Amino acid sequence: MCGIVGYVGTKDAVPIVMEGLRRLEYRGYDSAGVAVAVDGHLELRRAEGKLGNLDRVIAERPASGTLGIGHTRWATHGRPSETNAHPHLDCDGVTAVIHNGIVENYRELKDDLIARKHRFGSETDTEVIVHLVEEELRAGRDLAEAARRALRRIEGAAAVVLVSASDPKTIVAARISNAGGVIVGYGDGENFVASDMPALLEHTRTFSFLDHGEMVVVRPDLVRFMDLDGKEIVKAKTTVAFDVVSAAKGGYKHFMLKEIFEQPRAISDALLARVDRRTSRVIFDEDVKMTEADARAVTRISIVACGTSYHAGIAGKYLIERLAGIPTDVELASEYRYREPAIVPGQVTLALTQSGETVDTLAAMEEAQRRGARLVWIGNVVGSQASRMAADVIYLHAGPEIAVAASKTYTATVVCLLLYALFLAQRRGKIDEATSRGILAGAFHLPTLVDGALQSSEQVRTLAYRYYAARDFLHLGRGVNYATALEGALKLKELSYAHAEGTAGGEMKHGTNALIDENLPVIAIAPRDGVYRKMLSNIEEVRARAGIVIAVATAGDAEIRDKADEVITIPACHELVSPVVAIVPLQLFAYHVADRRGCDVDQPRNLAKTVTVE
Ligand code: AGP
Repeated sequence: MCGIVGYVGTKDAVPIVMEGLRRLEYRGYDSAGVAVAVDGHLELRRAEGKLGNLDRVIAERPASGTLGIGHTRWATHGRPSETNAHPHLDCDGVTAVIHNGIVENYRELKDDLIARKHRFGSETDTEVIVHLVEEELRAGRDLAEAARRALRRIEGAAAVVLVSASDPKTIVAARISNAGGVIVGYGDGENFVASDMPALLEHTRTFSFLDHGEMVVVRPDLVRFMDLDGKEIVKAKTTVAFDVVSAAKGGYKHFMLKEIFEQPRAISDALLARVDRRTSRVIFDEDVKMTEADARAVTRISIVACGTSYHAGIAGKYLIERLAGIPTDVELASEYRYREPAIVPGQVTLALTQSGETVDTLAAMEEAQRRGARLVWIGNVVGSQASRMAADVIYLHAGPEIAVAASKTYTATVVCLLLYALFLAQRRGKIDEATSRGILAGAFHLPTLVDGALQSSEQVRTLAYRYYAARDFLHLGRGVNYATALEGALKLKELSYAHAEGTAGGEMKHGTNALIDENLPVIAIAPRDGVYRKMLSNIEEVRARAGIVIAVATAGDAEIRDKADEVITIPACHELVSPVVAIVPLQLFAYHVADRRGCDVDQPRNLAKTVTVE
């Protein structure tokens, strides 16, 4: 989950690499470093902590050259420190490596290299790579061939970038396994590599994406792809529309707040051009290959996802079963491949991963595909590994999401799940036009409804400031808003470091009730829907035990005001779209509690945006 940037051309590489790293800091931020080729040697600058520390190191000891690589780290092997920060050098300081992933066999390789008198400067698994390359270079091979031979000895998951002062016009990059994306950006007399597109959007919109087992040699005027057997390959170029402006904070204090407020727009983009308004039929573009016959043949859907995407999946199960009548289960992707998942004929495995690069989800997809399932992906990042694995691809079109905690990609994923559920229901003849029309009317109203929910921001801030010091929170929901309870609790945990738990209302009596006392704020998601009365009973249970009830309720609901200590209102909406509306005040609550507690909202401790390690 580290950020990677490389530049080769005619300009000074250091500012380009540093700016790219700044745009990727959300990927990892416990240390950072750059290496730049200067007069036949490599200059290394590294610092523990955030990128600002590296800025200061560079300001004190400037370095410049036309070939440079940089890295922001999220530690796996070796504690965060300057010496463990990437890049790592070989014994002679001639060759440097940066890496995202884990070298699983690094212990054996390191013992072997130490026995052959290599000197190691870090505790990382990464450093073995550059010493392996060093041996190949000493044998007279060029950097590309040296890298290829060295990388064939690596087991595990890796995106690797190498440069050498012995060849100051070349970057070599490779991708081993599905973990850790590598993209190549094309310029005029200059070229780039990076782990993600936002790093390079200021310079180019034209990219190629490495697949598992591929490598690339990047020079100012040439880009050459090959596989790890050395066979040349041809890669397509993709031009994307993301712009730099939408990746900036735009006047908000944090990306998180900006992205919460971008949800009306993200939702309307997710819906855009996907419904024939005349017939109320969902029509996806050519990225969805599933025909009517294919849709009719689906016997079961297995959703695989992690974290927030998993919560979207819980709402998705509800939507798909209710609308399309297809048995659907939701699996934590990290658990999926460590059992013997049973795949039935006609099964669809629906992967939800906004980044398209979460290694647990990619591994679950691989396993499901191997066992014969059809892969469908819903996610945000164009050209990501998931997009290339799936038979059917549904893009969120939510624009770049920079804050580590997901907000707009969550709501856009639920909207896409609603569309997919309707698509299946319509192709399978499970829904009539009038019902489709009613649900879609609710969906088209969503940007306005979410905008309405955002109007509670100031009230939510007041509440957040009232309860910010609580040690624990409980989020209660039922039906489709059980997903909202889980997601609301996760947002609060990751942003504010408060302990929070999401529970289905009906489960409280089976254990959670024991937690309730006068210090516990209970956030009860209780819109006027089919389980409203049940939620009222749950609220009574909390009150009977002196808990503090903060209800999220439909505007105009007078009844709930007598039962709850605090009420946040959301606009009235169709039950099936309510999770998209009801999550908004909970995102704001988590944001304001975290901000009041002085937490690093955009980059919470110990987390990273794209989790490319197991
Ligand atoms: C969301 O706020 C979290 N940062 C995290 O749970 C995230 O949803 C999870 O890592 C999955 O990410 P993905 O959607 O990119 O696969």
